[in-house]
Amino acid sequence: MKNDVRIYADPTSLALAAADFITELAAACMAARGAFNIALSGGSTPRALYGVLASRGAQINWSGWHCFWGDERCVPPDHDDSCYRMAREALLDHVAIPDSQVHRIPGELTPPDAASSYEQVLREFFKGEWPRFDLILLGMGDDAHTASLFPETAALDRHDSWVTANYAPTAIQPNRITLTIPAINATANILFLAAGSSKAAPLHQVIDGARNPRHLPAQFIQPAAGSLTWMIDQPAAALLQTKR
Ligand code: 6PG
Repeated sequence: MKNDVRIYADPTSLALAAADFITELAAACMAARGAFNIALSGGSTPRALYGVLASRGAQINWSGWHCFWGDERCVPPDHDDSCYRMAREALLDHVAIPDSQVHRIPGELTPPDAASSYEQVLREFFKGEWPRFDLILLGMGDDAHTASLFPETAALDRHDSWVTANYAPTAIQPNRITLTIPAINATANILFLAAGSSKAAPLHQVIDGARNPRHLPAQFIQPAAGSLTWMIDQPAAALLQTKR
């Protein structure tokens, strides 16, 4: 796997660099098409990034932004564990993205209903074509899961749908909804964020190690016709051999 790996001193400079990356990409997409489609991520690492983006306020033209999510925990939108709620509080409440352009995953439904409802939203938005987001933001868990694609779980085998429910071996809300691997890999750009020393070993395995994607699902992520960028902080990069 060829990766563009960028390393930053600490989580703050990582968040600033990720915000610059997104700001530039969004401006280019807005100039070209008047729209920018982004799939947001949950987890703790993006929170600081959302704060930086929110602080840029009117420097960014938010009018054509469409926000989606790469995965969600099966909880109502006001639940503490909701990825939507985190993004709303850190970013969406502070910027001028029209509500009609915020396409959350309905985690309050049963998992199969939430998956089919979100897939329907994507199919309408992308007019039946595979969902080519301008950017999907992803994190990576200490077990090398990404989105809600956990090691050795059923969602890894879903190739016919864009969205699926998944039961995850995790303490935080095991019932999940996630984009499938082919839906993620149809995107134009992927930005992975990873921070902290707990990510050092899995990152080394994912980037430098032998291919074993069922055990290291982040290895499945490789856009068919797009870019893949890793932004990581020094502690997460401690064991990496493949550095830029
Ligand atoms: C979630 C996502 C998950 C997350 C990673 C990284 O639970 O929200 O499913 O893929 O992005 O676990 O999370 P951190 O940024 O908290 O390390």
